[in-house]
Amino acid sequence: MAIQKLLRLPVETMGLSKALRLKRYFQSVIHHSTPAKLTNLLRVESDLRKRASHLKGLPYVLKIESTNICNFRCPVCYESRKAHDFEGARGYGKMDNTIFNRLVDEIGKYVYRINLYGFGEPFIYEKTLEMVRYATDNNIAVGITTNFNTVDEGVMEGILHSGLEHLIISINGIDQDSYEKYQVGGDFEKVLNNIRTFQKIKKKMKKDFPYLDGQFLIMKHNAQMRDQAKALANELGMGMRYSCIGIDIKDHSQRERWLPEDESLGQYNFKTLTPKGIENLKTCSWLYRTAFINWDGGVSPCCNYYTGDKTGDFGNLNKQSFREIWNNPSYVEARTLLSKKGALGNEYGRNSVCARCDKFFG
Ligand SMILES: C[S@@+](CC[C@H](N)C(=O)[O-])C[C@H]1O[C@@H](n2cnc3c(N)ncnc32)[C@H](O)[C@@H]1O
Ligand code: SF4
Ligand code: SF4
Repeated sequence: MAIQKLLRLPVETMGLSKALRLKRYFQSVIHHSTPAKLTNLLRVESDLRKRASHLKGLPYVLKIESTNICNFRCPVCYESRKAHDFEGARGYGKMDNTIFNRLVDEIGKYVYRINLYGFGEPFIYEKTLEMVRYATDNNIAVGITTNFNTVDEGVMEGILHSGLEHLIISINGIDQDSYEKYQVGGDFEKVLNNIRTFQKIKKKMKKDFPYLDGQFLIMKHNAQMRDQAKALANELGMGMRYSCIGIDIKDHSQRERWLPEDESLGQYNFKTLTPKGIENLKTCSWLYRTAFINWDGGVSPCCNYYTGDKTGDFGNLNKQSFREIWNNPSYVEARTLLSKKGALGNEYGRNSVCARCDKFFG
């Protein structure tokens, strides 16, 4: 606890340096660490280095989607929310709390952080905050990313009471015009006003948490607005993180429409049309450190698999415990496949969603 006090950070950050991110990271790890979590983390990291197929450890970060329903229509998110009327479609819905609580009860003592969002807007579902509370009561840090368009003062107070550690607000523009080019259906002024109100309530309640950051997705039309976005975030008393848009890189029209012209700002190699650094990947850390839980209890290896087709799930928490899924044939097959890229093309593993992964195989 003394170390945690020593590392205590200013309530808000004006800009987000690497040093600050590291400090926050260590502060969170120290705050939530227990011997069981630390031992598990070391096991996972050792398994990852060995590229093991059967793991002794359990994931120490979870990404959990409380809902995949959304009030926006961002064009390159969840395949633009296409109708889920095909065979094997997951459909749209909200997670039952009992799935969430059961998972926390089962493996929460090994988990450092839950990122409580997937392909939807967390705050349109009132039970999202109950989930935050349940996780924080179990000594797990929780982070949420939101478009922050639907929240009123009651929800804001709920957020501040919930114990949420990190709130990230997606703002991909500096005015209504640039904002709604991607965040279709969004109201720029409303987000700014909501942030101002949130900051006021937070101050009044004398709360240190959640940390507040903006997130700016770099695209063709807004790449030159990065500094203005940072200045706006400073004005609002929060940090600003940048991230690169992900698209179907083989799709010419998506490349033309969304990719920044400056290759250094994106995540793709323009010549090979593959993600940067793909040739050096030896395995995929998602299969060791993290798991993605869809709103219906479906367990996917990650959120790179965003087609809404649930037939590639590795299991379902309505039918199995997490431990039963974590080392089942789907997981073992995927880890084996990725640790030996050459295995691709053989019969083995070719039905796994990981065999079709553009992040890994291009
Ligand atoms: C899918 S959203 C869900 C949470 C919430 N609805 C929001 O927009 O913040 C999670 C994150 O994905 C980001 N995102 C959306 N489309 C993306 C894309 N094509 N490539 C990379 N990130 C994307 C959003 O900016 C957001 O930070
Ligand atoms: S607001 Fe978030 S979940 Fe909704 S469409 Fe946009 S990126 Fe996707
Ligand atoms: S689909 Fe790709 S990113 Fe996801 S776990 Fe498999 S290899 Fe990793």
